[in-house]
Amino acid sequence: MRLMTVAAAAAALAFAVGSAQAGDAAAGKAKADACADCHAPEDFAGSDVGELTQAIKDVASGATKHKAKIEVSDADAADIAAYWAAGEE
Ligand code: HEC
Repeated sequence: MRLMTVAAAAAALAFAVGSAQAGDAAAGKAKADACADCHAPEDFAGSDVGELTQAIKDVASGATKHKAKIEVSDADAADIAAYWAAGEE
């Protein structure tokens, strides 16, 4: 039982740390302006924020083939992902 408690605490901590690094949707809204010609936020609404952040990083790094060359930092990617995943205008 004690082991389970420790595991649960570790999971809670990991979650807390993850949230602390989560993107800022308000900041993402402004940054996503550069993408708005081709992407509406609702295109990515409901996406997993972590996966979407990674997808944006992959596009930015050139790992994923993408129509436009985009320049976004890792922090920008997290912010844009937070904004898009929320699916708000
Ligand atoms: C000129 C149009 C255009 C602009 C500007 C644009 N995109 Fe895209 N993007 C596309 C198209 C078209 C696709 C789907 C096909 C492809 O990947 O080329 C796509 C796909 C994506 C995908 C999904 C890739 C995957 O994993 O399949 C992500 C993430 C993405 N774009 C992020 C961005 C971000 C972030 C910006 C702004 C910083 C941006 N795009 C700006 C046209 C654009």
